[in-house]
Amino acid sequence: MAKQQSDRVVIANWKMKLGLNESIDLAKDLKVKFDKVNGEVAVCPSTYALTEVKKVLKGSGIKLGAQNVFWEEKGAFTSETPVSALEEIGCDYVILGHSERREYMHENYEMINRKLKAVLNHSTITPIVCIGENWEERKTDRRDMVLTHQLQHALGGLSVLDNQKIIVAYEPIWAIGSGTSIEPAEAEYAHRIIRLTLKDIMGNYNPIHNIKVIYGGSINSKNVKEFAALENIDGLLVGGASLDAAEFARVAKAMLK
Ligand code: PGA
Repeated sequence: MAKQQSDRVVIANWKMKLGLNESIDLAKDLKVKFDKVNGEVAVCPSTYALTEVKKVLKGSGIKLGAQNVFWEEKGAFTSETPVSALEEIGCDYVILGHSERREYMHENYEMINRKLKAVLNHSTITPIVCIGENWEERKTDRRDMVLTHQLQHALGGLSVLDNQKIIVAYEPIWAIGSGTSIEPAEAEYAHRIIRLTLKDIMGNYNPIHNIKVIYGGSINSKNVKEFAALENIDGLLVGGASLDAAEFARVAKAMLK
């Protein structure tokens, strides 16, 4: 019997960790490692590397994602990138509101909401909306409230068409890049809260067709199996462990089994 294709998605966030040539080299290595993909795998290089990485990935099953986008289509917005340019390049995904942008570039959820609407209304690109509490919020038992608030501001009132997809990435800020992921049971719980909230706040919530909830924060080949075993997880957003082709392949294969 043919093996069933996984519905899950594993997305690499290269952040600003690689130059142009390094990005090309890593894409070449990944193309070899992922000649058969049992599910969806995507890489998100820096904006300056998107076009070249797209060329390298041609003919492979690996998808391309951007790390950011702007909500306006054209105008005097120095250094920004519009949705249409990402479409022209051939992006399948775009990360919105990563915690590093929220922290260092003061991006807030009103801005993330504008970006999300621009992506959904003007492209077929799948947005990956990042949410997650910081250490202080977690310590003071405010995680659930924070997640609900972030979702409300990013997605509240939104209706998605049958052919539109959104990914919500739950990334506890304190776990990102720390080398220590959260307990898988905690991710399971948070994902449940996220789904219940989306059901409440969205115009039409269709979990099967439209919404995936994925986890990100210090995932590697050692801890991935415990996350892969969770029921309520549709995939992963992987930072550090995605910068090495062999390690990323181990993570993706464990998740997409
Ligand atoms: P990490 O990053 O896997 O290095 O923790 C995840 C992310 O920031 O998306």
